[in-house]
Amino acid sequence: MNEEILKQIELPKHIGIIMDGNGRWAKQRGLERTEGHRAGANTFRTICDYGADLGIEYMTFYAFSTENWKRPPKEVSAIMKIFRDYLDEANAREAENEKRGLRFHLTGEKKGLPPDIVKNLETLEKKSAGKKVMTVNLAINYGGRDEIVHAAKALAQKVKRGEIKPGDIDEASISENLFTAGQPDPDLIIRPSGEYRLSNFMIWQAAYSEFWFSDILWPDFTPDDLDRAILDYCKRNRRFGGV
Ligand code: IPE
Ligand code: IPE
Ligand code: MG
Repeated sequence: MNEEILKQIELPKHIGIIMDGNGRWAKQRGLERTEGHRAGANTFRTICDYGADLGIEYMTFYAFSTENWKRPPKEVSAIMKIFRDYLDEANAREAENEKRGLRFHLTGEKKGLPPDIVKNLETLEKKSAGKKVMTVNLAINYGGRDEIVHAAKALAQKVKRGEIKPGDIDEASISENLFTAGQPDPDLIIRPSGEYRLSNFMIWQAAYSEFWFSDILWPDFTPDDLDRAILDYCKRNRRFGGV
């Protein structure tokens, strides 16, 4: 983005991206769906670094949903392999992450994920915990409903232990028990691939998010597209129910 424009606008603090369209991108090229996922992972790297360079504080990338386990086992294991490769690389490029100030955080259910992937995610979280330009939420094995169930269970346990009363439960305490605890809600949610739905993405946090849809397939998504989404967002009039 042009420096002059960047100075004049108020950036969204938190952007969520539903990285969709990998399969169709591969199909268009006569490739296996897996190739689309590999290309999508490269786009993720580019957009993540670009977001940090712009000065976005939080970005959440929807990489694998709790519903995606329904896909053929071959596709699921190919996606898991891509996560493994990415995590190995991200853990190895510590100096680069440090320079960019990237802090990684898993927003998803550990239960159900292969243990080695959980371990690598935890290592990445620990190694990057001190950095602070941008928090990168990796929404892997993520479902918005699952996340709310997770929060309800945590609050029920607190009631059981006598730490809180049922009447103490409010919107803030639910937010504090989601995977995004302590983070602002997403200001902007981007969904490429021509689908107009959330597919269970951040359904609690999206209450007042602005949406940006596009027909671009995720592997074709570029920093210029992110600029376009942000500039459109800047023109929106957010009222939050007020006047
Ligand atoms: C998104 O791309 C990646 C995941 C959901 C893991 P898709 O695989 O959903 O691509 P399309 O929607 O079939 O094109
Ligand atoms: C949403 O995409 C999940 C991710 C991008 C990780 P899907 O491709 O799974 O969503 P639907 O099935 O089209 O709603
Ligand atoms: Mg899809």
